[in-house]
Amino acid sequence: MTRLTDDYLWWRDGVIYQIYPRSFQDSNGDGIGDLNGITARLDYLAGLGVDALWLSPIYPSPMFDFGYDVSDYEAIDPVFGTLADFDRLLAEAHARGLRVILDLVLNHTSHLHPWFVESRSSRDNPKRDWYLWRDPVAPRSGAYAPHSGAGSPPNNWESVFGGRAWEYDPATGQYYYHQFLKEQPDLNWRNPAVRARVYQVMRFWLDRGVDGFRLDVLHAYFKDDQFRDNPPAIGLRGWDRQQHLYDLDRPEMADVLREIRGVLDAYPERMAVGEVADFGMAVRYVGPHKMHLAFNFDFLRQPWLPRAFQQAVQRYEAALPAGAWPCYVLGNHDVDRFPTRFGGGPYADARTKVAAALLLTLRGTPFVYYGEELGLPNTRIPRDEIQDPPGRRYWPIYGGRDPERTPMPWDGGPNAGFTTGQPWLRLNADYARRNVAAQDADPASVLNFYRRLLRLRRESPALRRGTFRALARRPVEALAYLREAPGQTVLVALNFFGWENTLKLDSPLPAGAWRVRLSTVPGDQARVRGNRVTLAPFEATLLELEPNSP
Ligand code: NOJ
Repeated sequence: MTRLTDDYLWWRDGVIYQIYPRSFQDSNGDGIGDLNGITARLDYLAGLGVDALWLSPIYPSPMFDFGYDVSDYEAIDPVFGTLADFDRLLAEAHARGLRVILDLVLNHTSHLHPWFVESRSSRDNPKRDWYLWRDPVAPRSGAYAPHSGAGSPPNNWESVFGGRAWEYDPATGQYYYHQFLKEQPDLNWRNPAVRARVYQVMRFWLDRGVDGFRLDVLHAYFKDDQFRDNPPAIGLRGWDRQQHLYDLDRPEMADVLREIRGVLDAYPERMAVGEVADFGMAVRYVGPHKMHLAFNFDFLRQPWLPRAFQQAVQRYEAALPAGAWPCYVLGNHDVDRFPTRFGGGPYADARTKVAAALLLTLRGTPFVYYGEELGLPNTRIPRDEIQDPPGRRYWPIYGGRDPERTPMPWDGGPNAGFTTGQPWLRLNADYARRNVAAQDADPASVLNFYRRLLRLRRESPALRRGTFRALARRPVEALAYLREAPGQTVLVALNFFGWENTLKLDSPLPAGAWRVRLSTVPGDQARVRGNRVTLAPFEATLLELEPNSP
């Protein structure tokens, strides 16, 4: 693998691009994206300027949760292709300098995984203890008792996707625990045999050359050993109506983080990024002997206000322990796409460029979700086309995650070049205009802005590795910060709104000539004077202090 510089480390210096394989590129006309489709688009990805790809699950699955219910960890679902297709994808990606990380869903399996099929076959099956089986309890007065004679579920825990987290199994007279669908039973991470086996799964892929893993719901591996009830909370859906003291983030996790890190460290330059439930875990689960990265989802909750983003960054910078590296995301396959979240409408693309400039110029590893580079918004999915299980269950309170999972629009032709068949989910309504080919041809497009930003980031030690310093304590409408590395100082100035803005900085900028390296305003002459930066409407500009400046 080529390295950009001697100390280049792909997961720290690079940008990681998430692919939802069902929706990226179909190569066989069945309307569902596949591995050969991804391989065919690797030149596009290399040309975009990202460093690594994260593939959402591609393993055999009955698809109750579209691949997040795995029935074999060491194979490829036929809908996506074969192991040989995967090996070719990996080799072709590596040949282009792109790393590949896989999504490992190890908190739970599919109910059709042979481990669970065995486990549920009898109480004395050797795999019984691979999952969380509990006896029914005596129904409390007025309490939920779904099965006459079977008592009540062992405690009050709820499933993320709705309903109780316990499913009664009449054949063996016990309940099993599932934090998600009942088709996704949770593994018992206290069982050393389970741990040994899943570490073997990791080695299976590492030996094939995979560069790392995204670990699904890493925070959920352990549940309270006494299965205590969760206290109540205020919320709309069942899951939100509890404080998750006992079904998440248990202290036993510390050992497992160390063990997983040990598995990865036996191979050169491999990494793991953990999906974790909140900011506290995003800080606690990373660092030496822990995960390389953990998603900080704070940006998903911020209103479109510079101060909100700045505070989120400063809180993170202050909280991360020594040796831990930040990690930012604006979207993924579980949340509304950010152009929609930040307000949509005629200025959505302008806002998208500002958001992209922020994401890609902070200290830390950014993740880009496919389609973000086109400014792809949510697509409205009519009720009878909803595929996502929580969407079906909670409509109209919650429409599910299909709107952010629609196919990648490649061109203005039939089905946007995604498939020659019937796409599994409808395309974005504006795909005739919002597609890769159209944006490729437009120098002012969101796509070309991403490309320029990614190139600049790659060339700039200050952006990749430099320190972060906010320049105004209470920014109201625009944001400015410095990224500084030995020999390079970059000023990032972002106007969040559609009118001209003069940002007053707390102190004068380092004296010298500031050269515009990238701007959303063509021919920009950067108005930087003393402690003032003036920005055009929705301007996102990166300036560099001329090296020979005093
Ligand atoms: C988190 C994943 O991102 C989501 O898509 C999935 O449904 C749940 N984990 C369950 O695996």
